[in-house]
Amino acid sequence: MNNQFDSAHSYPIKTRQFLQQLGIRHPILLAPMAGTSTPELAAAVSNAGGLGSLGLANATAELARQAIQQTRQLTSKPFNCNFFCHQPPQQDLATEQVWLEYMCPYFQAFGALPPKTLKPVNFSLIDNQPIVDMLLQEKPAVVSFHFGIPMPDVIRQLQQAGIILLASATSLAEAKIIEAAGINAIVAQGIEAGGHRGIFNRDIDPAIGTHDLVRLFTAHTSLPIIAAGGIMDGHDIQYVLELGACAAQLGTAFVICDESAADPVYRQRLQDPAFQATHITASISGRPARGLMSAWHTQVDQPERPALSSYSYLYDLAKQLNALASQQGNHDFSAYWAGSNVARIRRLNATELMHTLIDELHQAKTKPSAYP
Ligand SMILES: Cc1cc2nc3c(=O)[nH]c(=O)nc-3n(C[C@H](O)[C@H](O)[C@H](O)COP(=O)(O)O)c2cc1C
Repeated sequence: MNNQFDSAHSYPIKTRQFLQQLGIRHPILLAPMAGTSTPELAAAVSNAGGLGSLGLANATAELARQAIQQTRQLTSKPFNCNFFCHQPPQQDLATEQVWLEYMCPYFQAFGALPPKTLKPVNFSLIDNQPIVDMLLQEKPAVVSFHFGIPMPDVIRQLQQAGIILLASATSLAEAKIIEAAGINAIVAQGIEAGGHRGIFNRDIDPAIGTHDLVRLFTAHTSLPIIAAGGIMDGHDIQYVLELGACAAQLGTAFVICDESAADPVYRQRLQDPAFQATHITASISGRPARGLMSAWHTQVDQPERPALSSYSYLYDLAKQLNALASQQGNHDFSAYWAGSNVARIRRLNATELMHTLIDELHQAKTKPSAYP
């Protein structure tokens, strides 16, 4: 065994306390990634001493339970289960019809018409008793929230069941709400992050970078901070620890690992300099999210486009258009979520990536900071 894996004791004191609370050895969390994370990916990260995660926002209670049980077959270590907490939207049929008409030519280009109406494709933990009941039965070690937090009684019940709770914040106002709710730690999601912005209100995005958010939250809250957004190697992790974070959460770096559910074109484009510019658009799902440049950014998201209907009704349309286009060999309408530092992605499996990150982190600790 590599000596580096025995050096968990050398982390800063507040990192060590946080690692103890989570029951893990290294300050590395796999980002939950609905549609991309798998039990195999989560288990590989947890088995290597980090915290694996399952992105379960698109799963029913039964599918989420199956994913948890499959992960438990692959690891005895703690892992995180992630859910979205947006206010369940009202379907806005008038806005939706205008959007369906706007998108009609894109469907026609593939010889089809858009659907007549849309349905939500992701679930919210708000008002979702079957998921809460399943969590209280399964008791995963950690549960995390994106787009907001659940009602106080759900927070209380989950914590009484011994579950550690994390929630994403993109502004100090959101971090304060998370702290006041008694949640155990804050994921500081910077503007660099791949995937959906965790903003509670889709119309208010402060667009703060990861490093600045870590400084802001460590100065004005007393909770452990997990930095997320643009972190690709162990040197990046060491730097956010120096800034006051207790751990780092990485998504994009793991998407390419063999254990993820990413399709072959996604993997290929992640490594292709022609696609490595990332952008944020809300036109895909109804909420802003960062991904590899695609027709959504260059064609659909024009200044004159109509108003967006509700998340995740809009996502239903995007998924249908992508399925249609992909069947015909066109991947320009795929949502290939990725963070702004994707150009530094490395082709390793999850265990190799974890070992590399840990080695780099320990090397970085012995050198003067490479950062300003
Ligand atoms: C493919 C992908 C899917 C994501 N899905 C989720 C999700 O389901 N839940 C969530 O809380 N965050 C999700 N995120 C955001 C991550 O939690 C995290 O903020 C982000 O990956 C950090 O930035 P990075 O990708 O540059 O490492 C996703 C990110 C990616 C890349």
